[in-house]
Amino acid sequence: MNYLAPSILSADFLKLGEQLELVEKNGVSILHIDVMDGMFVPSISLGFPVIESIRRSSKMIFDIHLMIKEPERYLERFAAGGADIITVHAEACLHLHRTIQQIRRLGKKCGVALNPATPLSALDYVLEDLDMVLLMTVNPGFGGQSFIPAMYEKIHGLRELIAKKNLKIDIEVDGGIKAANTKQVIEAGANILVAGSAVFEGDIEGNIREFQKIM
Ligand code: DX5
Ligand code: ZN
Repeated sequence: MNYLAPSILSADFLKLGEQLELVEKNGVSILHIDVMDGMFVPSISLGFPVIESIRRSSKMIFDIHLMIKEPERYLERFAAGGADIITVHAEACLHLHRTIQQIRRLGKKCGVALNPATPLSALDYVLEDLDMVLLMTVNPGFGGQSFIPAMYEKIHGLRELIAKKNLKIDIEVDGGIKAANTKQVIEAGANILVAGSAVFEGDIEGNIREFQKIM
């Protein structure tokens, strides 16, 4: 099954409640939430108060993408604040295996994200413990960047690896996803597509419908 996961980074924060209601009403079941610390990535985005507020009014699956150094410091708080899936960056964890176990112990689904230049081999020895791998298809930190074409091969390589090991793991892609490259990323093997600017800029309902037609 393929899913569109709108990233709230590109939402209008003044109208956040309305816009999330609109995406949910239009059949979206996964909401992608980008947390940035100004250290692991150059920008700072949002944190606990926003997540806790939107949790009260949304039934969507909260897919929390932690672009923060040493995310193990905050896992409990994100779990309590409404996360359903918690994704940490392999590059940001000194003890990745331990961090994954912590997320699992909190009863949440666990994802690991890889930056574009990080090889798939970073997942050796932990892949079996994951529910999802997030392949960054831009360098993390900002919305509205262009998809890096070399990532098609990476998505495909990961899909093959997962199939070879007979695992059931979602592949999420994040960055530069538009209706125009949706078919290609799905063919390469991705099944959860994060889209920020392509959903929230302009006509939100129309944008979602355009994705849904292709997926
Ligand atoms: C970037 C974030 C993305 C971002 C994607 O670091 O992880 O989730 O919102 O934005 P678009 O879809 O505009 O590239
Ligand atoms: Zn993201």
